[in-house]
Amino acid sequence: MRLLAGSFLPIALLPSLSFGTPTTTSLFTIPLQRQTQPALLYLNFAEDDSPDMSDPHNAAVANQQVQVVTAIETGDGQTFPNMLVDTGSAFLWVDAGQTKYSPGPHSHRTNYTFDVGYGDGSASGDVYVDQVVIGSATVAHQYVGAATNVSTFSSLVNFDGILGLGRNIGNNGSIPGKQVTPTFVDSLRSEGRIQARTIGVYLAAYDGNGTETDAGEITFGGVDRGKFLGDLAWAPQKMDNPHWAIQIDSVSYGTMSLPNSTSEAIVDTGTLPILLPFHAFFGLSQLLNGTINNSGPLAGWLAVPPNITLESLTLSIASANFTIPPEAYLMPESLYAHYNVTGPQRQTWFASGGFGNAALGQKFLELYYSVYDSDNERIGFAPTTEGAGMKVSCGMGMESNVIPSCT
Ligand SMILES: *[C@@H]1O[C@H](CO)[C@@H](O)[C@H](O)[C@H]1NC(C)=O
Ligand SMILES: *[C@@H]1O[C@H](CO)[C@@H](O)[C@H](O)[C@H]1NC(C)=O
Ligand SMILES: *[C@@H]1O[C@H](CO)[C@@H](O)[C@H](O)[C@H]1NC(C)=O
Ligand SMILES: *[C@@H]1O[C@H](CO)[C@@H](O)[C@H](O)[C@H]1NC(C)=O
Ligand SMILES: *[C@@H]1O[C@H](CO)[C@@H](O)[C@H](O)[C@H]1NC(C)=O
Ligand SMILES: *[C@@H]1O[C@H](CO)[C@@H](O)[C@H](O)[C@H]1NC(C)=O
Ligand SMILES: *[C@@H]1O[C@H](CO)[C@@H](O)[C@H](O)[C@H]1NC(C)=O
Ligand SMILES: *[C@@H]1O[C@H](CO)[C@@H](O)[C@H](O)[C@H]1NC(C)=O
Ligand SMILES: *[C@@H]1O[C@H](CO)[C@@H](O)[C@H](O)[C@H]1NC(C)=O
Ligand SMILES: *[C@@H]1O[C@H](CO)[C@@H](O)[C@H](O)[C@H]1NC(C)=O
Repeated sequence: MRLLAGSFLPIALLPSLSFGTPTTTSLFTIPLQRQTQPALLYLNFAEDDSPDMSDPHNAAVANQQVQVVTAIETGDGQTFPNMLVDTGSAFLWVDAGQTKYSPGPHSHRTNYTFDVGYGDGSASGDVYVDQVVIGSATVAHQYVGAATNVSTFSSLVNFDGILGLGRNIGNNGSIPGKQVTPTFVDSLRSEGRIQARTIGVYLAAYDGNGTETDAGEITFGGVDRGKFLGDLAWAPQKMDNPHWAIQIDSVSYGTMSLPNSTSEAIVDTGTLPILLPFHAFFGLSQLLNGTINNSGPLAGWLAVPPNITLESLTLSIASANFTIPPEAYLMPESLYAHYNVTGPQRQTWFASGGFGNAALGQKFLELYYSVYDSDNERIGFAPTTEGAGMKVSCGMGMESNVIPSCT
């Protein structure tokens, strides 16, 4: 599920919100379900080609600054070049863009339909079982939704569909009449293409001018050690959350600890901003004399005055500190026109998801490599080689305990 602040924020409540006054009224809802051992019904087809066991497999991802996409091949040899890479949802569907799905030699039409809703839009249509190729990873029999009805996704541009890489339990009910169905990663495992249901995500970072510094990469079945520094800090999956989710233990700004910041947070490549824990967000806003936008695509986002010296924000997760320096949390001015931001306030990538909802979105994951480990129910983080080397430097007076180059 692509969860965006603007779509869920109790906007009417915003002006009356003050730090330390939590509201339990939030339009931001994530379905919470008790986790049971998912009874996966793997698709039962005869294997038509022998799997190659040279896992893991890599695929290139493109960071388009306001969304992360990858190309997939399915149907009648069709390539869908701009599939949203979404660890926040768990169903795969195509046909939102110019390219239209047509069944090919590997396609099986099922009698099922699908219907998926996100904070930002919805899609429904027919379900096929088809071969899906992403980079060097091939699944012979994957559920693929071919959308016949796609609502406007206000925050996405030129996208072909959504590649859901979330926990499979998150797609419960996406196909009415079925409960949980295998994700692309589940299928890779059940078809013997990978040995571990692990995904490593490396997003290319942007410099302060909005220029991409490197190509991104997703790894299926393992991690790419060349893309991050040091060891991964593993955070346990929050088992009552159907999405990838961990606990943020505390948040500090510079050397100041922001009170009451412990919060569960989803880890979502499909959420653009960093949705800070409720109290941390409003505490930070107050500390910086910030302005919280109350309308349009940036509703719930924080802008800060032009005349203050900014410090880095640090999230403490799994006993490790994850620093977000100002260059990483300030929106590049080159994007102001896209969002109609005029200044003089400086727009940040920080937003509020409402009470009880936080998200480590794309702008956090550009700095930190993330690993989604279904078999062990945990998520790992480590500074990326590129993002950390470029954005987090000790010359800026930042303390960082996780950046080797700073010690
Ligand atoms: C922390 O949260 C509790 C409960 O929500 C609240 O009573 C308290 O006032 C908060 N403290 C601060 C400093 O905001
Ligand atoms: C799927 O959702 C249904 C209805 O909410 C629920 O009864 C069932 O336990 C869920 N299945 C799993 C595997 O969570
Ligand atoms: C689809 O439904 C029809 C009629 O109920 C049935 O004959 C057919 O076998 C079903 N096809 C599949 C692939 O389940
Ligand atoms: C398409 O989806 C929209 C939004 O969910 C809905 O209002 C509309 O009725 C749907 N149209 C069709 C043909 O299903
Ligand atoms: C942005 O571009 C200017 C002019 O090309 C350059 O001097 C500056 O170093 C760049 N900033 C970053 C953060 O790369
Ligand atoms: C916030 O505003 C107050 C009062 O206008 C001022 O005293 C304080 O210095 C400002 N804080 C920052 C960080 O600019
Ligand atoms: C920044 O400007 C505002 C409004 O002019 C002023 O209230 C505030 O004190 C200034 N802060 C600093 C640190 O100069
Ligand atoms: C994280 O930062 C805090 C506050 O600066 C510090 O006390 C703590 O030792 C750091 N933790 C690690 C693991 O470096
Ligand atoms: C920006 O402003 C233009 C003209 O007022 C409007 O058409 C457009 O929708 C706005 N874009 C955003 C992202 O708000
Ligand atoms: C809020 O966002 C809108 C649309 O993106 C922008 O035009 C406006 O300047 C922002 N308002 C504030 C107070 O930042």
